[in-house]
Amino acid sequence: MKIYENYIDQLRANSKIKTESRFSANQLLEMHFEAFKRDKPIIVELGVNRGQSTRVFLNAIDNKTNARLISIDINDCKDAVKSTNWEFVQQDSIDIESLLLKKPIIKDGIDILYVDSLHTQSHVLKEVYGFFQYVKPEGVIYFDDIDSGPYMSGQRKDSVSNEIANRDIFDLLEAIFRANYSSLDFSINRGSTGLAKFVKRSKLGDKLNSPLFTKKRNFKLFWRLLEILKIKKTHHHNNSTNESFSINPKND
Ligand SMILES: C[S@@+](CC[C@H](N)C(=O)[O-])C[C@H]1O[C@@H](n2cnc3c(N)ncnc32)[C@H](O)[C@@H]1O
Repeated sequence: MKIYENYIDQLRANSKIKTESRFSANQLLEMHFEAFKRDKPIIVELGVNRGQSTRVFLNAIDNKTNARLISIDINDCKDAVKSTNWEFVQQDSIDIESLLLKKPIIKDGIDILYVDSLHTQSHVLKEVYGFFQYVKPEGVIYFDDIDSGPYMSGQRKDSVSNEIANRDIFDLLEAIFRANYSSLDFSINRGSTGLAKFVKRSKLGDKLNSPLFTKKRNFKLFWRLLEILKIKKTHHHNNSTNESFSINPKND
């Protein structure tokens, strides 16, 4: 039996129930599957605390020779879990230079990066921009705490600070994606804290373009007026041609 299989079994059971706890189970199971399907992954985790995600990754790589989980936390979390596949580093997650001196294997490439430390937009920005060049092609970056929905007014986990912090992080990820379409795929799990997933579609060493923040438009009538006056161009789907289909259905 694998090292934390009982915990994974619990998550599998929770993922089938109707209450919201299935969403957090699904987030962790998604990461378990991603780590499990890789042969000898190098995983870097930012934020350990009591080691929930740490257990998930360690279970997925249990008995995989040369697979590694390197976990970083600003606090001492060295007793959070036990495994020969685990290395813990106590430091600030944005001090990547010092991390590379301690763990040079990271320069060979990261298969999975999990971002779950300080949940502010500026900190997450430094983490993702600092680590991206060390992520392998087809490598994955997960971000926790990106769904503001459950924290909104009157909702299940009503909390104004979490609502705003999660929205800020999600806005950042959208801005990064917008500026990096050619090198990123982006998907999300919603309902709990929220888990975002970037898949890297560029080479080891490639960096990200700066995030591109755009203004969200309200007042549709105003913007329509600009369009009618030809001050602003709008894209329209043309149903009489196939341009809206990325793959022409006629070729089936
Ligand atoms: C949400 S908890 C991590 C939870 C963990 N991933 C889990 O699933 O159980 C966030 C952790 O980030 C750590 N942290 C906060 N600021 C940090 C920083 N600047 N660098 C590294 N770790 C930090 C905290 O000490 C805390 O343990």
